[in-house]
Amino acid sequence: MQSKTLTLLAIETSCDETAASVVRRHEDGTGQIVSNIVRSQLKEHAAFGGVVPEIAARAHIENLDTLIKAALTDANITLDDLNGIGATAGPGLIGGLLVGMMTAKAIAAVKKIPFIAVNHLEGHALTVGLTHNQKPPYLLLLVSGGHTQLIWVQDIGRYTRIGSTIDDALGEAFDKTAKLLGLGYPGGPEVEKWAQNGDPNRFDLPKPLKANKQPNFSFSGLKTALRQKAQKCEPLSEQDIKDLCASFQRALITSVIDRLELGIKNVSTRFAPQKAFPIVVAGGVAANKSLRAELEHLTQKANHPLIIPPFDLCTDNAAMIAWAAAEHLSRGHQDPLTTPARSRWPLDEQSTPILGSGKAGAKA
Ligand code: KG4
Ligand code: ZN
Repeated sequence: MQSKTLTLLAIETSCDETAASVVRRHEDGTGQIVSNIVRSQLKEHAAFGGVVPEIAARAHIENLDTLIKAALTDANITLDDLNGIGATAGPGLIGGLLVGMMTAKAIAAVKKIPFIAVNHLEGHALTVGLTHNQKPPYLLLLVSGGHTQLIWVQDIGRYTRIGSTIDDALGEAFDKTAKLLGLGYPGGPEVEKWAQNGDPNRFDLPKPLKANKQPNFSFSGLKTALRQKAQKCEPLSEQDIKDLCASFQRALITSVIDRLELGIKNVSTRFAPQKAFPIVVAGGVAANKSLRAELEHLTQKANHPLIIPPFDLCTDNAAMIAWAAAEHLSRGHQDPLTTPARSRWPLDEQSTPILGSGKAGAKA
């Protein structure tokens, strides 16, 4: 284990955010974000209602060098001050991953510094180490546009998947339904906004996997049920849309809370941690106020601390990649420059694939 302070640059290009960040890991294991720059490609993809892989890869190529320079300038350092460089190696869109990996490998080769290939999901999983100095073990609920998973984080590098979506990710369900109702992209914030003045009890929607004792998630049936309700109301009035959004949001959140409750029980039985372990939430859907309120309610009731990083560190960023790289480097790990990019890369390599989850090229 290295004990000196480590300064790392990392690059994130797995989906539609181009990001570069400089992070320090101090001798006592605490972290510090020195610079953190994210350029979202929302505008490039908005017209398509989703991420277009080729457009994403091209935008990463066009912007990455500028972002790296800006991250170094903001941190007031040069490449010569780095102890290592990390890049997201997967899971994600392969074109974007290759852009980030090749750039990081080139810097590592020229500057003769360690290269660390980071799993994007591990970046999300370890963020609370950087923001809250929270060490494992804890239960991670990852709810983003591409993933919905419950992961038991036992230690750095030791992850057990407790549950996963068997079809759509939570953010994806919000996005697809927003598109169906003619609302903007990304759909989550739109559905949340319209739901504010809607009646969550007007439409009766199914309770996915309710009888299933595995803490998995499923949202595509809800999405179909919502579409059928909407079709029956056509032409939709503003109030119809508000009520549809409110009912849909309520059904999604009820399901997440039900599954999380099961996941907590599952972890308590399987791993029997000594004390009430923290529940950590990451991913863009963590911005949803109703979800946060329900999470607070559940964790207070069950007596588990709830930790949610600040919103800009819940969504995709390079600081989380730099931090995961620093945690590995501090333990003496680095990766060869021959390491490939992986469009699929489960955090828990032992877990059996879940039907429909971790789609190649899915947003992480
Ligand atoms: O983590 P993220 O920024 O990107 C990845 O998927 O990697 O998450 C984006 C997702 C989108 O599906 C977006 O609709 C959803 O997070 N989202 C929300 C809210 N804000 C963002 N979903 C529900 N309510 C929100 N307020
Ligand atoms: Zn992500």
